[in-house]
Amino acid sequence: MTTQPAYTSSTLSDVGGERVNRSGFGTKAVWFFRALLLVPFVLMAPEVISALRGSPDGVANISASVADVLGTSTFLIFILMLAVTPVYTMTGWRWHTVLRRDYGIAMFATAATDLTLAAITTGDTFPGTVLTRVGGHTFLAAGTLSTLLLIPLVVTANQPAQQWLGRHWKGVQRLTYVVWGTILVHLFLLFGLSAIFIDAVAVSAPLVFMRLPLVRRWWTAARRRGSRRFVRAVAAVALVGVFSLGFVPLVHELAVKGSAAFVQNPNRD
Ligand code: HEM
Repeated sequence: MTTQPAYTSSTLSDVGGERVNRSGFGTKAVWFFRALLLVPFVLMAPEVISALRGSPDGVANISASVADVLGTSTFLIFILMLAVTPVYTMTGWRWHTVLRRDYGIAMFATAATDLTLAAITTGDTFPGTVLTRVGGHTFLAAGTLSTLLLIPLVVTANQPAQQWLGRHWKGVQRLTYVVWGTILVHLFLLFGLSAIFIDAVAVSAPLVFMRLPLVRRWWTAARRRGSRRFVRAVAAVALVGVFSLGFVPLVHELAVKGSAAFVQNPNRD
């Protein structure tokens, strides 16, 4: 959740040797990607409103939907946040880098809502106290830990915190990688080596690969020189392909479970 220089709308210019696209298209695209962050809240709103109005199925519906809709949304937001830097490395674009911070904050808001609703509503699935509902199984503890680890990240995702922490700021931001690990543990404990965990590994693999210092340095240098175009094109197609193999099923999962939640007809499995 690194902070970036504020995005401004103007014409093409050069900053630090990189071509910066600050066109009207960039502004519109940034607002489109920001608008997507409302989707999880819109999908859950009817069930939450029904529960607040005292509808008989209200709490049970939230219990059935919350992990599917908000868990999948949190993960997709996380993955898109992690994709910002690799997209910059590959293309040199900068119009989208402001989204890294926005997506980090939205990820925390979505995960915190997930944790809060789970703590309140999932007594039918995890009978006991509130602690049972958020930590009664190792997979729940891993989900809760992932959410709690986002607090220091979000609290320090601003310029004053960056100045205050100085050289320690990067160390705090590296917690992102710990969260990446705890989310994968959460999904492995839930699903083992099957669909959703495999999807999560598929979206993660290209993002890890593009972060390897050797790869990042090679790609940036080749892009700036305009060399190795064919190798870069083939590698980009392969990486986007592997990413899509995981990303598309996760979006499909959100569409199916999210639309069921929206019409208040979740699958109570
Ligand atoms: C960073 C935070 C979290 C992320 C990224 C995350 C991600 C996910 C994902 C992607 C799924 C699969 C959803 C599906 O089957 O469609 C899931 C399932 C689940 N999550 Fe999380 N989760 C998080 C936090 C939590 C928390 C805080 C809890 C509860 C305390 C929780 C409990 C569950 C449960 C019970 C399931 C299984 C749902 C089912 O298959 O019916 N998760 N999570």
